[in-house]
Amino acid sequence: MATNMDQDIQTILVTETELDRVTFRIASEIDRDYKDAEHLVLLCILKGSIVFTGELMRKLTIPSEIDFMKVSSYGSGTTSSGRVNIILDIMRSDLNECDILIIEDIIDSGRTLSYLAEYLRLKGAKSVKTCALLDKPSRREVDFQPDYIGLEIPDEFVVGFGLDYDERYRQLPYIGILKPSVYEK
Ligand code: PRP
Repeated sequence: MATNMDQDIQTILVTETELDRVTFRIASEIDRDYKDAEHLVLLCILKGSIVFTGELMRKLTIPSEIDFMKVSSYGSGTTSSGRVNIILDIMRSDLNECDILIIEDIIDSGRTLSYLAEYLRLKGAKSVKTCALLDKPSRREVDFQPDYIGLEIPDEFVVGFGLDYDERYRQLPYIGILKPSVYEK
């Protein structure tokens, strides 16, 4: 369905069909790798990962739980501040029984995922793995590679499928490159 947000998109980078294919492929890999896991927890990192996490949940055939954390790494603009702050922590007493799979919409500098993986290990999780739908390898500042990756993308400002600019565009069903005129005002 066309929305008035479409006019702010320069190019569609990943179509709805491609996203369906990629999320299905990752869900199949998770199904395979966690088939014997007793307590898989998909840890959705708010807010950008909510759509991707939902898609993965729908496509998994093995049992899984969902949980949430919220961190901040970006300021209000388009660049990373380089800091990771926990805004909402995971609140559970059975972490030592949980196989945590951290779900991110995008890995950029790598700071958020590397910090969270270490944080959850130190907090006592039974196991910790990481999954990112989009990867911008050219932006990496720390040496970190997620266990599951959807697609590598160029260093463009992308929105849609959960990703925002100033809290807008998360609802777009595709990943699009935002017109620079939108954020260069
Ligand atoms: C984005 C993304 C990751 C992080 C990745 O979140 O969801 O959490 O930035 O960047 P890094 O690899 O440089 O650490 P953002 O701060 O935009 O918050 P949001 O998900 O609430 O939109």
